Amino acid sequence: MAHSAKTNSLEEFWVPFTDNREFKAAPRLITKGEGLYMTDQNGGRLIDGSSGLFCCPAGHCHPKIVSAVHQAMLQTTFVSSFGTSHPLSFALAERVARLLPEQFKHIFFVNSGSEAVDTALKMVMAYHSALGRDRTRFVSRERAYHGVNMGGVSLSGMVNNRKAFPSVLPNVVLMRHTWSKDELFVRGQPETGAELADDLQRMVDTYGAQSIAACFVEPVAGSTGVLVPPKGYLERLRRICDKNDILLVFDEVITGFGRIGGKFASDRFSVTPDIITMAKALTNGSIPMGAVAASDRVYDTILDAAAPGTIEFFHGYTYSGHPAACAAGLAALEVYEEEALFQRAADLSDYFLDAVFSLKGHPKIRDIRGIGSVAGIELVSNGKPGQRGTQMQKELFWNGMHVKFTGDAAILAPMFIAEKSHIDEILDKFAKTLNGLVV
Ligand SMILES: Cc1ncc(COP(=O)(O)O)c(C=O)c1O
Repeated sequence: MAHSAKTNSLEEFWVPFTDNREFKAAPRLITKGEGLYMTDQNGGRLIDGSSGLFCCPAGHCHPKIVSAVHQAMLQTTFVSSFGTSHPLSFALAERVARLLPEQFKHIFFVNSGSEAVDTALKMVMAYHSALGRDRTRFVSRERAYHGVNMGGVSLSGMVNNRKAFPSVLPNVVLMRHTWSKDELFVRGQPETGAELADDLQRMVDTYGAQSIAACFVEPVAGSTGVLVPPKGYLERLRRICDKNDILLVFDEVITGFGRIGGKFASDRFSVTPDIITMAKALTNGSIPMGAVAASDRVYDTILDAAAPGTIEFFHGYTYSGHPAACAAGLAALEVYEEEALFQRAADLSDYFLDAVFSLKGHPKIRDIRGIGSVAGIELVSNGKPGQRGTQMQKELFWNGMHVKFTGDAAILAPMFIAEKSHIDEILDKFAKTLNGLVV
């Protein structure tokens, strides 16, 4: 039985990351999703140009996932995740591990990307504690986005995400970001800029390797508008980490599960970190879930240091590995495999990037970047940062398309089930809306 969701009041729900006063004056409500399309409250049809928030490569309301969740919920709607578990969590962990480099055999479930980042921070701390070290400094990067929990905000390099919250973790230092205004409209990995990784070496030289616990990076910085790492950059970070016994954490909340070409960024760029965070496409966005994959080195070190009969890692969430989420994750990963969706996305990547880069030269576009199935289109600012992007996003909605924006940067991330005609529709709507934009 479907629930009635008649809306009498818009006041009570505090909409996240949204201008509430403006939104409530002219709400944009989605009432249905199916495949690549969604329906708004007026019956308007929208194509989803960003796979939700990079979550749903297999399309909205995939029947196999819906049915798997339903079946799981008929068996059990909750199992305590502390001291007990259920078979689906083991099955999903095993399936996730199969997508990762072979030394990642241990998967810790959480409920979101932000929780994955906080969990990764704690794993790093537990690893160094297990070795009797006092490493408390973390290295992150300008323009980084690592979610909104206090750990992720501390690592954040996006000013708006920090400025209202001054009491964040101390001892976080930021490397420079990898975008350069001198190299615009670069498709794939920029040829130059690998030496920006030496910022990590500067941190080592300045603070001492013995104080640095880990370096966190999004292999491709997603939320800040798709900053693709220069060739050789991630390799160089890896070498500096190895030399100084610093753990390298890849935050793959966006880049995981086929979004940038390989299965994960570690695969796409042939650089293996020590810890990998993921979320979003893990369940095709259908049930909130994230995960942290620990390499054998990290896992074994933490377990070996604990006395027998004790809890090795004092961490976990009530909903870690919830049965509905595990069922959704298992079904999603099966769908990706059965429908060969990572390959399908890789096959369509050139067509998608050709289409996106064909917008080069538009007077309102400052830069375009892209790799795999994700592209950032940065609009020329009108002098009020973010105003043009926000307006464009709203107009796109009423013109029949959902697109994620950060400030003035649109982030296109088509579903992996997209056909060429869908890419055409996405780019056509984008161009027409941009042409008509008056702010
Ligand atoms: C790289 C990265 N880390 C963490 C997060 C936070 O994920 P969530 O919104 O599920 O908490 C995001 C969200 O976009 C992300 O892109």
